[in-house]
Amino acid sequence: MRQLIAGNWKMYGLRQSLAEIAALVRALEAAPPVADVLVCPPATLLAASVGVSKGALSLGGQDCHSQPDGPCTGDVSAEMLADAGAQFVIVGHSERRAAHLETSEHVRAKAEAAQRAGLTPIICIGEKLADRDAGTAENIVAAQLDDSLPAGGDYCIAYEPVWAIGTGRTPKNQEIEAIHRLIRNRIGASRRILYGGSVKPENAREILSLADVDGALVGGASLTVSSFLPIIEAAQRRD
Ligand code: PGA
Repeated sequence: MRQLIAGNWKMYGLRQSLAEIAALVRALEAAPPVADVLVCPPATLLAASVGVSKGALSLGGQDCHSQPDGPCTGDVSAEMLADAGAQFVIVGHSERRAAHLETSEHVRAKAEAAQRAGLTPIICIGEKLADRDAGTAENIVAAQLDDSLPAGGDYCIAYEPVWAIGTGRTPKNQEIEAIHRLIRNRIGASRRILYGGSVKPENAREILSLADVDGALVGGASLTVSSFLPIIEAAQRRD
């Protein structure tokens, strides 16, 4: 299974940012990576990103509604993302769980919607700092898996400790491996488990070398080629 290096642009990026995707495509064409590469730009840039990606990388959305269409002002369905050229969609990111009060039950419905539309959902889970400090991180993650996962089908998991997102802090290697092992035991060998939370060029090689780490979900460092490309280059050959 090739590793997947996924960029989550969050609410950053105007049309001028397409130049970053174009530059990334040139770099990937010049030196094909050992990993699969995914960029999840804001929905407004998705269709235009398809044109510049030239198949050198995959594209994804950052969230989707659980219904295919309907009177849901401001929402975007999985079918719409697929229609715009996405192959993946992030669901259940902690920023949405916190700011949009999404529960694991919502997240499962979104993941199932993604599958219905032919997209691979990247289902995000992860404990808060208080859970980590209380020694209950594994219980929290196990409960999130119980409630967020579709019954079957294709999906990836992104383990993102909430306290590691955008903070420059990361868990210890053995803490990442313990959670990834727990997830692996639950979802089997054929689905990818990504690590996310302050992945940078400086720590990518070490994190991507850990057992059961099948890739990374990268926020801030995915916004420019100068920081995203070194992370892609740090991917491990696993096929
Ligand atoms: P970060 O974000 O890499 O900026 O910590 C990761 C994420 O939120 O997916």
